[in-house]
Amino acid sequence: MISFNSSSAAPADCCIIGGGIIGLSIARRLAAQGLSIALFDKSSPGTEASHAAGGMLCPRLEFEKGSPLSEMGEISLQLYPDYARELEEETGLCVDLRLDGVITPLSREETPGSTSSEDAIPRLLEGDALRELEPGISPEITRALYYEDEGSIDNRALTAALAVACKNLGVRIYPDCEVLEILVQEEAARGVRTREGDFSSAIVINSAGAWAGKIAGEVEQVDINPVKGQMLMLDCNGFEEKLPRHTIYSHQTYLVPRRDGRVIVGATVEDKGFDKSVEPAAIEALHQKAAGIFPFLGDIQPRESWAGLRPMGKQDVPYIGALSPSGYYAAVGHYRNGILLAPLTQELMAREILGTTE
Ligand code: GLY
Repeated sequence: MISFNSSSAAPADCCIIGGGIIGLSIARRLAAQGLSIALFDKSSPGTEASHAAGGMLCPRLEFEKGSPLSEMGEISLQLYPDYARELEEETGLCVDLRLDGVITPLSREETPGSTSSEDAIPRLLEGDALRELEPGISPEITRALYYEDEGSIDNRALTAALAVACKNLGVRIYPDCEVLEILVQEEAARGVRTREGDFSSAIVINSAGAWAGKIAGEVEQVDINPVKGQMLMLDCNGFEEKLPRHTIYSHQTYLVPRRDGRVIVGATVEDKGFDKSVEPAAIEALHQKAAGIFPFLGDIQPRESWAGLRPMGKQDVPYIGALSPSGYYAAVGHYRNGILLAPLTQELMAREILGTTE
């Protein structure tokens, strides 16, 4: 049995913990179906992993073919055009969805396992065909694979648009409002306890990213660990001729171009707990790797560098669904692929919560 603190707000149908892309997407989806939503973020929405990400949408490169994650990634990728278009229509904001292909350079030793036929997936690009698509690529790279329908989205623009769409739909967003505990009464979720007071709701969704396992309460716990990724941004304005035109994915280094001339370069993968420090040596190593693929990038000083925490669960596949007690749900453990899997996650959660009454 719990005692409620003085509640600082009207009850909601649903409390969502965490305002990253997952929490915001679910909030918007459920609010569009008429649910009243209160969303809590320990800082500002969209400032953790959703801000740190590169925004790659590359299921075939990220996942083993035929695996459950690969299937989830493919489905989510197919949902992306409508998800992005509807969001842009609702908010008037551009989210820079680019599904014009991803290129993965091959070393001389690598056997392509693909052909240059027009309908091969991926297609093998050699010599002039590669240089035609990427004039700035290193002359040392003579072959690459081309995944024509994959790409990227500007994840920062996306989370900003989602926050606007949520507000337009009446979602109450509480920044700087850490959830300390999930409240349970009579074997059902009853809301959340925050530093600002208690909020009651019959549905509570945990989408708190790397912090999802840190919330107290007599609920089924989720086991999520942070995996650090350091990244940098190069402002390539003035280099339009040489700029990567596609997302480039090469042996744990990736380059993601934005419409406005920025190029995002990622990423380290480090088990360092909640440490988000940025190390010059790691940034320099990434910068050098990027310059090995597009030599002109070596002459551009990084404009920004940062570190984010990917939320890794015990299983490869994120957990999206009900937990105990009744009324408690989680959408957690998206690890490297929260941006890619957001449209599918919101649909799975909507199906779980709204059932067939939708
Ligand atoms: N999705 C790529 C990364 O986490 O670095």
